[in-house]
Amino acid sequence: MSSSHDTIRAVSWHNDGLQLLDQRVLPANEVFLQFEDAAAVAQAIRDMVVRGAPAIGIAAAYAVVLAARQAYARAGAEWRREIEADLQTLAASRPTAVNLFWALTRMRACFAAIDGDPVPTLLAEARAIHDEDIQANRRMGELGAALFTGITGVLTHCNTGSLATGGYGTALGVIRSGWVNGRIRAVYADETRPWLQGARLTAWELVRDHIPVTLLADSAAAQLMRAGRVQWVIVGSDRIAANGDVANKIGTYGLAVNARHHGVRFMVVAPTSTIDMQIASGADIPIENRDPAEVLALAGQRVAATGAEAWNPAFDVTPAELIDAIVTERGVVEKPTAAKMAELMRGTASV
Ligand code: MRU
Repeated sequence: MSSSHDTIRAVSWHNDGLQLLDQRVLPANEVFLQFEDAAAVAQAIRDMVVRGAPAIGIAAAYAVVLAARQAYARAGAEWRREIEADLQTLAASRPTAVNLFWALTRMRACFAAIDGDPVPTLLAEARAIHDEDIQANRRMGELGAALFTGITGVLTHCNTGSLATGGYGTALGVIRSGWVNGRIRAVYADETRPWLQGARLTAWELVRDHIPVTLLADSAAAQLMRAGRVQWVIVGSDRIAANGDVANKIGTYGLAVNARHHGVRFMVVAPTSTIDMQIASGADIPIENRDPAEVLALAGQRVAATGAEAWNPAFDVTPAELIDAIVTERGVVEKPTAAKMAELMRGTASV
């Protein structure tokens, strides 16, 4: 992989604190913010300074290090009791991406064995979560791109790239790998109303990494498919249920319905940290509802008629039967079912 196609890192441990690229102000401004306490990181997750399921989990893992540093300074050996409020605040920041809870559980699992200052152990664990995410993305990039049978046009939704992960990306990682291997002819990206992750973030990231991209209004996707310009829709996920139902950015479900109608294949790319085996089906996945102002306004400017109300679910659920492949770092699940997902998570699936 040429490094010119993978240059962006939005989350990093820097100067003994957490550094985040502020995704609210891209692409106009590239601003890095520095965080020294967990409550501020929780607020940054809520406000979408950092967003995207794996990136939220990684930011939360580093936030646990910040919380432990403060708790140890305040309470010494009693730091485990002192850190609880920060863990609760982080867990309450956004509800849908299970990577947040997965990362907090993994960090908490280190607590019992720590003797003395918790920071070195917890920082090593947060760094491991971050590194493993990048490795998973590279592996998924290879596995996903290997599913292309010819030179293909692809459509993606939201932002699933380096900005949404530890680096490289999930769906955008497959697109990076496919582009480098010469398997992709054209990349189309939905603008992704209301927050415009596609127009603001995916387009910025792909242009920056020298991968040509064509934006479309979300409502143009069916026409794009009918015109035969894309053979695959490739998306990420915020939470995958035990039966293979997939929660992802609002609009994903509509794309899956449209893809099936037009004979376009539908790929979901997500690390196993996004799979929630505790949730039987998509019906039980908590869906975040965000501020109606995100729909009523555009770039901070009200566009809707005064008096109108708005419904703003941030995610929807695509049923497993509309999905051709779920690509994880452990392997590809084609035509997902509960039995195939269980086999993957037991580590016995054939790749
Ligand atoms: O609301 P966001 O921007 O955090 O939503 C992000 C998405 O829905 C992504 O598609 C998903 O997290 C997968 S990204 C690797």
